[in-house]
Amino acid sequence: MTTMESLIGLVNRIQRACTVLGDYGGGDNTFSSLWESLPSVAVVGGQSSGKSSVLESIVGRDFLPRGSGIVTRRPLVLQLHKTDEGSQEYAEFLHLPRRKFTDFSLVRKEISDETDRLTGKTKQISPVPIHLSIYSPNVVNLTLIDLPGLTKVAVEGQPESIVQEIEAMVRSYVEKPNCIILAISPANQDIATSDAIKLAREVDPSGERTFGVLTKLDLMDKGTNALDVLEGRSYRLQHPWVGIVNRSQADINKNVDMIVARRKEREYFATSPDYGHLTNKMGSEYLAKLLSQHLEAVIRARIPSITSLINKSIDELESEMDHLGRPIALDAGAQLYTVLELCRAFDKIFKEHLDGGRAGGDR
Ligand code: GDP
Ligand code: NA
Ligand code: MG
Repeated sequence: MTTMESLIGLVNRIQRACTVLGDYGGGDNTFSSLWESLPSVAVVGGQSSGKSSVLESIVGRDFLPRGSGIVTRRPLVLQLHKTDEGSQEYAEFLHLPRRKFTDFSLVRKEISDETDRLTGKTKQISPVPIHLSIYSPNVVNLTLIDLPGLTKVAVEGQPESIVQEIEAMVRSYVEKPNCIILAISPANQDIATSDAIKLAREVDPSGERTFGVLTKLDLMDKGTNALDVLEGRSYRLQHPWVGIVNRSQADINKNVDMIVARRKEREYFATSPDYGHLTNKMGSEYLAKLLSQHLEAVIRARIPSITSLINKSIDELESEMDHLGRPIALDAGAQLYTVLELCRAFDKIFKEHLDGGRAGGDR
């Protein structure tokens, strides 16, 4: 792993440990400011625009409930941890700490079950996130957040207020300055009506932390294409738009796997008369690469502030550890220790490789 990869990996693990600590110390503490200083990527868009599908493609694994209607009903905070080549891929939920999932269809089932546990088998939503970590040699270190889809009308069985509730929930993630917005719009709808772009424009008017993603290119009417959007003429963003072809519902029903889906997506662009000239800048794999490069640049730029926060945390944690005489839950004590160790590791790697005005020079 490169130094940058190890630093991002540590940042990821610190975020996770901070999550475990949760309200320890009462919400607004070192851990929440540490968490908020670190970037994450949230997926935003209308219902069934393809948000969960895009996330799965980025991860390269089938594990999310997908489909028509409101499937995602709680935020899913997904942390990807890159592990050493050849190690086994597994997933772990925060609410099931000692269980390692190696069968990803069981991950999907657990997300559905855990969603139902809070919301009932209804179409209700809940702002309480589900935390999932995936450990794999095939991922980039990244925190991704899947969110319920924005909608304009409540469906049967939902209270009228659900429209505003979903918007408030999504907004609470994307308004944070460290949130990178993956704004998903389907190509078979007019971009001017895109819920994703509408919200992104509000919270990030300059477009510096918004990535426009256009899904369902394969479902556009014959004889039309999305070049005006993809080439930035319809709505200009600072980052290039990325077009995507996810699996259709028919593909999902037929259990078309990720490798086949990615190959079909590549072929789609390579053989397309409209998008042939953009082949190298389209598709899920390219999007994943673009995101991790951006994340790396963001973390690189933030290293000085992250480092000072981490040093502050080390000081606070050390004095916290000194006071451990007072009653403290065993788990919280162990987690504090974990955060402290991770912060020390970050500081050490930073000092060894990136310090002395050379931050940004490792390659
Ligand atoms: P979400 O509600 O935004 O999370 O959307 P999902 O990922 O659950 O997708 C909703 C439906 O649209 C599913 O049936 C997907 O198979 C389908 N879908 C998503 N993206 C594409 C795409 O690029 N092409 C096609 N043909 N179908 C897609
Ligand atoms: Na859906
Ligand atoms: Mg979804």
